[in-house]
Amino acid sequence: MSESRAAKLGRPSRVLSGIRPTGDSFQLGNYVGAVRHWAAMQDESDCSFFLADLHALTELPEPDKLRERTRQSVAQLLALGVDPERSTVFAQSHVREHAELAWVLGCLTGFGEASRMTQFKEKGSHSSSGASVGLFTYPVLQAADILMYQADSVPIGEDQRQHLELTRDLAQRFNARYGETFVLPGAYAGRAGERIKDLQDPTRKMSKSIGGSGTVWVLDDPQAITKKVKSAVTDTGREVVAADDKPGITNLLTILSVATGAPVPDLEREYEGKGYGDFKAAVAEAVVELFAPVRARYDELVADPAELDRVLADGAARARETAVATMDAVRERVGLLAPVL
Ligand code: TYM
Repeated sequence: MSESRAAKLGRPSRVLSGIRPTGDSFQLGNYVGAVRHWAAMQDESDCSFFLADLHALTELPEPDKLRERTRQSVAQLLALGVDPERSTVFAQSHVREHAELAWVLGCLTGFGEASRMTQFKEKGSHSSSGASVGLFTYPVLQAADILMYQADSVPIGEDQRQHLELTRDLAQRFNARYGETFVLPGAYAGRAGERIKDLQDPTRKMSKSIGGSGTVWVLDDPQAITKKVKSAVTDTGREVVAADDKPGITNLLTILSVATGAPVPDLEREYEGKGYGDFKAAVAEAVVELFAPVRARYDELVADPAELDRVLADGAARARETAVATMDAVRERVGLLAPVL
C-alpha cells in the first residue's frame, strides 16, 4: 500500500486487522501470518487491532468462554508486542456500527459472490448441522470492519486474501453507486510461505478451530511445544530442504526461519547432511524460546482483568470516533433519514 496514497490524503497510513478470540489461545500461524507484523507496524502507521468477537459467534462458543477468551486475547496481543498506547485495541462488538455497516454492505453483495468464498465452503462442510447464515455473511462483516476505518493496509494471513478482495469489490461498488465514500484497502501484500500448516497434516493450514496435536498454541508450555514439533509429520527422504513434495519439512523450515530470523536457504545449508531428528529438535527449541517471554508476560497481564477492560474501553472510545463518522456518512449517502434526537 500506499504510503503515497496516505501521504496524498495528508495523514499517516491506516492499518487495521482483527483476530477471533477462539481456541485455547492464538496459534503459531496467527503469530506468523498476522500478529508479528502488527507489532512491527505500530511505529510508522496509525494502527487499530480488534478482537473479532462477533465473528467468533459463528462457532457458537459457550457465553462465559467467549467472554473469558476475549479478555485473554487482549492479554495475548499485548504480550506479543501490541502496545495500546500506540495502537487502538478494541472488541468488535463494542463498536456497534460494525454490525450496522455489515447490513448495508450485505445489500450490495451478490448471493453467488458470497457463496464462492472458500472459507465459507470449507467451514460449512465441517459443520455437522450445516452452515449458518452468520457463516455465510461472515466476509461481509469483515468488509465492514475494514471499510469502517478507511484502512489503507490490512495485515492478514494468506487464507484471508479472498475476503480482502471482496472488501475491495464492495468498496468500489458502494463508491460507484453512492459517491466516493470508502478508501480501497491495499491489495493483499503478505509474503508467500507465511501460511503455517498443521503439523500433523501439512496439506492444510494450522487453525484454532481444528486444534489437536498439529496446532502449536502461543501459550503452550515448553513440553507441549517440544512434543508437538518432534512428532510433526515429515516427508520421505532425509534431506532438510524446502520443496513442493516436502510440505512437512518446508513448513518446519518456515517456522524455524521465523523463530530465528535466519533465511530458509541458510537453514538448508546448516542442516545439510543432518537428519530430521536434529532438525526437529532445533525447531522445537526455537519455538520454545520464541514464546517463553510471551507466556511470562501474558501471565502478568491476565492477572489484572480490570486493566484489560480499561484497555478495551479506551480502544472502543477511540474506534467509535471514526466509526460514528463513517456510519453517519453512509446513512446519509444511502438515503436513510437522519433520526431526530
Ligand atoms: P483468524 O482469527 O482466523 O486469524 C487471525 C489472523 O491469523 C492469520 N492466520 C494464519 N496465517 C498464517 N498461517 C496460518 N496457519 C494462519 N491461521 C490464521 C489469519 O489470516 C488472520 O490474519 N476473519 C478473520 C478475522 C477478522 C479480520 C477482520 C481480519 C475479522 N474482521 C478484518 C482482518 C480485518 C479471521 O477469522 O482471522
